[in-house]
Order: sequence, then C-alpha cells, then structure tokens
Amino acid sequence: MKKIHVLFEQEDYRWIVLHRDPDKKEGLIDSNEYVITHKGKHFLLDPGGFEIFPTVLASLVQVIDPQEISGVFSSHQDPDIASNFSLWQEIVPELQCHVSWLWSSFMPHFGGDENTFISIPDKGMELNHNGLKLIAVPAHHMHSAGNLHLYDPSSKIYFSGDTGAAILPDENRYLFIDDFEAHIPFIEPFHRRWFGSNGHKNNWCEKVQELEIEILCPQHGAIYVGEQVWQFVDWLHKLNVGTTRNRVK
Ligand SMILES: [Fe+2]
Ligand SMILES: [Fe+2]
Repeated sequence: MKKIHVLFEQEDYRWIVLHRDPDKKEGLIDSNEYVITHKGKHFLLDPGGFEIFPTVLASLVQVIDPQEISGVFSSHQDPDIASNFSLWQEIVPELQCHVSWLWSSFMPHFGGDENTFISIPDKGMELNHNGLKLIAVPAHHMHSAGNLHLYDPSSKIYFSGDTGAAILPDENRYLFIDDFEAHIPFIEPFHRRWFGSNGHKNNWCEKVQELEIEILCPQHGAIYVGEQVWQFVDWLHKLNVGTTRNRVK
C-alpha cells in the first residue's frame, strides 16, 4: 500500500499525494501519484504504470470513490506516467486523458479510442476540473519532446512531472526536502542526462518565475516547498543539461 499525504485542504477541495510503497518491487522506479479533488470529482495526475495499478487503486480507495474520477492528466508518454490508463477506464469507461498533441496518437497503444485522448497544444491550455481552473504549462524537452506541467493557481501548487525529480536511495526516501543543497546529488544526474535542451529548459526557468508557486510537486522523489521552489529553479537555470559523463564511443 502507498502512503497518503494531504498537501492542501479547503472544504471540498484537496490535493493528495500517494507515495512510497514499502512493498515496491526492486528495480521499479518510485513514483508519486497526485489527485485533485474538487466538489466531489477527482482528477488524477500521472496515475502511474500498469505494474503499480493495484497498489495505487487500493491506496486511493481509502480517500476517494474511484467511480467519481472525472479526468486524467498525463505529463508525457512514459510507461511510469499513465500506462495503467486503460485499467482506470475499466472503472470509468468514459474517462478521458489530457496529453500533449505530440503523444495523442501514441498513447492509444495503452488502450482507449479516438475520443479518449484530449490533445493539448504546444502553448498549453486551460482545463476545467469541475469548476476549478487548472493550467497546462509547456515544458517541452523536460524531458519528453512533448511535455506539460499542471499549475493550480488557486492552491498555488505546481505539478512538475519529471522536472525536479529525484532518485532517492531506498533507505532514505523522504517526501519533503529539508535542505536543498543536500538534495542536489539526488537530482543532478537525472536532469543532466534526461533533459535534452538548454534552450527549452532556460525558457521554462524564466517563464515559471512569473507564477506564484508555494509547492512544486515532481512525479519522483521529494516535494519542494516555499523558498526551495526558487532554489531549485535557480539551480536548474544554471545547470548544463543534455550531457552525460560517460561518452558513447
Ligand atoms: Fe519520464
Ligand atoms: Fe517519470
């Protein structure tokens, strides 16, 4: 079973994160799944892979009624992001998934039909989750060629997909960062290797500073709160990405 943490709560409006399955299979990257609940309807953000579906569902039913899931957001196409999508459709057959237009003809390989995937244009778009305004923010090449984040201006929570992701050691999988400097060794190799474009990355770092963000939530690793959000953005701005220490000869 995954642990459950409520990040934000205001009457019938909540942000919940599922994290840290103590029984996680070895060799399977750890992931965080987020749920935004608004007026009785639930929106899943990167609900995870096929392998972890039973665990995510068993954890989620402790806090929501899965029949009331009304939408899914997929930051990109990776197997750990939403390869379990067709299993959610077994619960809610009309469920739709919002994803970059670049991936909307690839994602049906995970199931669904021509009505299942809602294409988000490169410039992003506004989404309406049962009366709550959410904004799909472009973050292309971070790391996927068609990559989006989700900003909630009401709670000031920013879901950043693989941006800010940390690969934490099994014996120390903390959910919140204590000390940003001490966190860097767990984020640096991932961002250097997986992010493909300094230009796109720098553009995102500059644009995101226009937003009010109190909590930045990555799909792997630990969550950034308050000043740590901007420490991370400054750090990423200076990082040279798209490089690997081990050159292929
Ligand atoms: Fe990814
Ligand atoms: Fe990921």
